[in-house]
Amino acid sequence: MGKSLENSGGVAEHLVMENSSPRPEAVVEFARRKPLPCEEDSLENGPQCEITRLHFSNCPQIELPRTADAPLVTGASHDSAAVEAYKSLRTRLLRVQASRGVRSVVITSLGRSEGKTLTAFNLACCCAQVENLPVLLIDGDLRSRSLTKLVTNSSSVGLAELMGGTAPYEDAIVRTDVPNLYVMGAGTSNVPSTELFSGERWNRILSRSREHFRMVLVDSVSMGALADFELIAAECEGILVVVRARSAAREELKTAIGQLDSSKLIGVVWNAGHLKNAKPY
Ligand SMILES: Nc1ncnc2c1ncn2[C@@H]1O[C@H](COP(=O)(O)OP(=O)(O)O)[C@@H](O)[C@H]1O
Ligand SMILES: [Mg+2]
Repeated sequence: MGKSLENSGGVAEHLVMENSSPRPEAVVEFARRKPLPCEEDSLENGPQCEITRLHFSNCPQIELPRTADAPLVTGASHDSAAVEAYKSLRTRLLRVQASRGVRSVVITSLGRSEGKTLTAFNLACCCAQVENLPVLLIDGDLRSRSLTKLVTNSSSVGLAELMGGTAPYEDAIVRTDVPNLYVMGAGTSNVPSTELFSGERWNRILSRSREHFRMVLVDSVSMGALADFELIAAECEGILVVVRARSAAREELKTAIGQLDSSKLIGVVWNAGHLKNAKPY
C-alpha cells in the first residue's frame, strides 16, 4: 500500500487494483492541501460537447484499442476495480478543475515506464464519460510517441506538424469511438522536439485546445530527463505525477516534486502498487 509522498497534512486515498497482470493494478494516491468542492460544481451548463462535436465533425475517426494486451479501461476484460480507481482519480481532477479552473494538465513521472501513458489514456477515457466534458488527449512525448502508437495511425499529422507550422490545428485532431474523447497524436518532424516546444506555437496550441475542450491531458516525458518536460509544463495549468510503486527512491522523488511549480502540482498517482515484478529504475 502506498504512503503519502508529501507530509502535506492533506487527504490521502488508496485505490487498489486486482493483481493479475496485464490487467491494471494500481494504487492511486493523492495528497492535497485542502478539501475541494464537489464534482458537480465543476460542470458548467452549456452545450460545449455539441459545439466541439460539430467543429471537429470532419476530422477522421479512430477506434480505440480494446484488446487485453494492455490494461486499458476500454478493454473488454477490464478490471472493474481498476475502472473505479480511474474514476476516483477523475473525480479528484474535476474537483481541482472546479476550484482552480485548471483545464490543461500534463502527466509526468520521475523515470520511464512508470505508467504515464497508461494513466493519461485511462483517465482521458473516464473524463470523457462525464456529461458535457469534451476531452483532448495530446501525445506530448514526441520521442517515444507511445500514446500515438497505442491509439492512432502513427503516420497521422499531429502535434509536431502544428508546432512546425506545417498543418492547421484541425488536421491534427482525430475523433475516437469513445464519445467526447479526441486525440492529438505526436506527428512527425525533423526538428528536435525541444526546439519545437521552445517556440511560441506550443502556447497557442494549448490555448486553442482549452477553447475547444473542457479537459486537455498531455502525456509527457519524464521530469528532469529532458528539457521538453519543463517547456511542456510551463504552458500547462496542472501537473500530475505518476509514480510506479517501488520504482523510485523516495528522496529522489521528493526532490524532483519539490522542483516543480507547487501552484501547479495537482497530485501524485501511485501506480501498480502491488505489482510483484515492479523493479527499481
Ligand atoms: N497499473 C498497471 N498495471 C499493469 N500494467 C501497467 C500498469 N501501469 C503501467 N503498466 C504497463 O507498463 C508499461 C509502461 O507503461 P507506460 O504507461 O507506457 O509508461 P510511461 O508512459 O511512463 O513510460 C506498459 O506496458 C503499461 O501497459
Ligand atoms: Mg509514455
